[in-house]
Amino acid sequence: MKVLVTGGTGFTGKALVRRLLQAGHQVVALDNKEGHKTRELREWGAEVVIGSVTDAAVVRRCLQGVEVVHHLAAAFRELDVPNRYYWEVNVGGTRNVLEAAQAAGVRKVIYCSTCGVHGNVERPPADEDAPIRPADYYQRTKYEAEPVAIEYFRKGLPTVILRPAAIYGPGDPERFFLIFRRVARGVFPMFGNGRTLYHPLYIDNLVDAFLLAMEPGRGDGRTYLIADQEYVAIEDLVRRVACALGVSVRIRHYPLWPLLVAGHVCEKACRPFRIAPPIFPRRVDWYRQNRAFSIERAKRELGYQPAVGLDEGLRRTAEWYRLEGLLPG
Ligand SMILES: NC(=O)c1ccc[n+]([C@@H]2O[C@H](COP(=O)([O-])OP(=O)(O)OC[C@H]3O[C@@H](n4cnc5c(N)ncnc54)[C@H](OP(=O)(O)O)[C@@H]3O)[C@@H](O)[C@H]2O)c1
Repeated sequence: MKVLVTGGTGFTGKALVRRLLQAGHQVVALDNKEGHKTRELREWGAEVVIGSVTDAAVVRRCLQGVEVVHHLAAAFRELDVPNRYYWEVNVGGTRNVLEAAQAAGVRKVIYCSTCGVHGNVERPPADEDAPIRPADYYQRTKYEAEPVAIEYFRKGLPTVILRPAAIYGPGDPERFFLIFRRVARGVFPMFGNGRTLYHPLYIDNLVDAFLLAMEPGRGDGRTYLIADQEYVAIEDLVRRVACALGVSVRIRHYPLWPLLVAGHVCEKACRPFRIAPPIFPRRVDWYRQNRAFSIERAKRELGYQPAVGLDEGLRRTAEWYRLEGLLPG
């Protein structure tokens, strides 16, 4: 069938496009910019359209003959843009995609939200009904788009909402790479007690969930947390990354509050100059916000089973960073 993936050249989008093509689907990827990733996708056989999800005409053009939409495009890593930009892309863009999908007779739309809508999890593990407490503007806008997806479901367009945990794996450009790089250096600065919970999600496990959610009738109108089987304390994660890399790591503890203050100050100071701050509150949150989720609903209703466990996922990721020359061999 013909499938549209918005944000198809992103970390997750690319892995999803590849699997859809391997499964014999025809894929259209919509993305903001031309670059080496768009060329790669075209080589694999995808059609790539350059444009924004906020542009109704572009989205309409992408939807010709499309049966299923995976909506992943999001303002996410942008640090030098006003908050308004997050709203325009994450909420306005999602409404745009849903409106155009309904008009085009699309069979199903899967909206990729985030586990971050729950903010700091006070009673781990959180399920989908746990309090909604987004901790920053990105998470707030991701959540604000969820009722829009439900609104279209009520208007007759089957939609499924997935809330992925912290995605990692080969191709991860950022968050886990920072952890791997620090561990590879042999000393890891741990701000706070290291007992904060973190829930990883191996990229292939998430792609499995997207494929399950596109099945007719499966999960329509429902919201699912998607994560790996196990969540861990961040200090444990650091040690397991060291194992995956085959190195030893010394963890040095520091108080958290100076980093917290520095994160806020850096973000404020850099914003007028439109420079990406070296540290910012969302990054500091890694040390202090519990992220631990129950995936029981996704297992029960979607048939989701995270096939790749944490140590295997970390091993594959380490291998990829080394193959790419990002870490010493
Ligand atoms: N990574 C995680 O741990 C995580 C966890 C939970 C949920 N999520 C969600 O998962 C999805 C994918 O995340 P990711 O980690 O793969 O992020 P990513 O690598 O930043 O991918 C996002 C993609 O969306 C594209 N995009 C941004 N604005 C756009 C616009 N206006 N129109 C069209 N395309 C646009 C980006 O293109 P450019 O780069 O060219 O701008 C990028 O290719 C997002 O919806 C994110 O909110 C991620």
